[in-house]
Amino acid sequence: MYDLVLKGRFMTGKKLIEGSIGISDGKISRISIGELEGEEEIKIGRGKVILPGLIDVHVHLRDFRQKEKETVESGTRAALHGGITTVFDMPNTDPPILDSKTFKLREELFKKKAHSDYALGFLLSGNCQEAKRTNADFYKIFMGASTGGIFSEDFESDYSCSPSIVSVHAEDPEVIRENPKRPPEAEIRAIETAISAAKRVKKPLNVCHVSTAGGLRTILDAGLPWVSFEVTPHHLFLTEKDHRRRPLLKVYPPLRGEGDRKALWENFSRIPIIASDHAPHTLEDKENGAAGIPGLETEVALLLDAVNRGMIELHDIVEKMHLNPIRVFGIRNKGLEVGKDADFTVVDLKREWIVKPEEFYTKAKWSPWEGRKLRGKVVMTVLRGRVVMEEDEIVGKPQGVRINAGKGNA
Ligand code: DOR
Ligand code: ZN
Ligand code: ZN
Repeated sequence: MYDLVLKGRFMTGKKLIEGSIGISDGKISRISIGELEGEEEIKIGRGKVILPGLIDVHVHLRDFRQKEKETVESGTRAALHGGITTVFDMPNTDPPILDSKTFKLREELFKKKAHSDYALGFLLSGNCQEAKRTNADFYKIFMGASTGGIFSEDFESDYSCSPSIVSVHAEDPEVIRENPKRPPEAEIRAIETAISAAKRVKKPLNVCHVSTAGGLRTILDAGLPWVSFEVTPHHLFLTEKDHRRRPLLKVYPPLRGEGDRKALWENFSRIPIIASDHAPHTLEDKENGAAGIPGLETEVALLLDAVNRGMIELHDIVEKMHLNPIRVFGIRNKGLEVGKDADFTVVDLKREWIVKPEEFYTKAKWSPWEGRKLRGKVVMTVLRGRVVMEEDEIVGKPQGVRINAGKGNA
């Protein structure tokens, strides 16, 4: 007898099968095409699909001195609402996570307040000795300054010293100093620098939010198995034309031209990871020029909508938001396998809804997709065997736990 049995259609491999998942002590105990019996049974009706718990490897949860923008609590509730069971916390906070003491504070904060599971990042910028005193799940390097203003003076040295996988914001400091519009060359040049370092250093590297055809080409042509990258929904679905119409769409790296956007889609099958880069600011800060777009509560639905339009397949979502994040970051306790955490994202592919940011859990009460009708919605989120979100309602207290991470494999 299992604690909980989920019955319905679920994805394993590239196939949708009808069956049952037996869960005990928060872990997957059995995956069966037949019937299983549980203390509690949840029947997932027709038209809905049980996906493995989706992971967002790039979110800014603020808190500390920026609780007005987002808190660990509001941001991780937003995650569960959007169907994300694990988030990767970015360390460009105020104060920034540059020392082991601040890292400890972050750890304590997440223990108390996180509703979703999480990975913790540490900011690398000439503080290698301090980095070695931490056991962060990943290390973040900004090649050029972004929100928070901290960037690395020497990418290769910070990258070589990193205790584990590095996620890099690739924009060249010289190019952005000369041109605050941050043209494609800023990204392309930085990615060239990062790839050339990766050839020598040969350690796991994840390039964040690739937005240009040139940057993408540089990574793909190098073909380094220890280098992975992310693409955001905003770079997949929006362009600089949208930004011209709506100044709130300011983000680093900026929205690009149609040619760059098309290049992302033409290479869609080679994109390892989709991540939101959820970057909440108050409306007032946005109006004063803050860069960043909130994305936790729209990313999965946008992708489901793309499935309905025949642009991608359901399996692409699983690959880019579950399988590859687990592989690249070496997450040991996640995956649709017996013995792993029972995390699930239940979606209704046919459900139509209208994006209303005032109904979101994030404190960023705006969205690029405000007023848009989307077909496809997350209807339930299950975290380690507990229903933590159902029909837009967050259920229960914060009970997120930190991932069990390796050093990454990119
Ligand atoms: O637009 C951005 N916002 N780009 C970044 O690199 C950081 C992020 C933030 O933290 O606001
Ligand atoms: Zn970034
Ligand atoms: Zn970011």
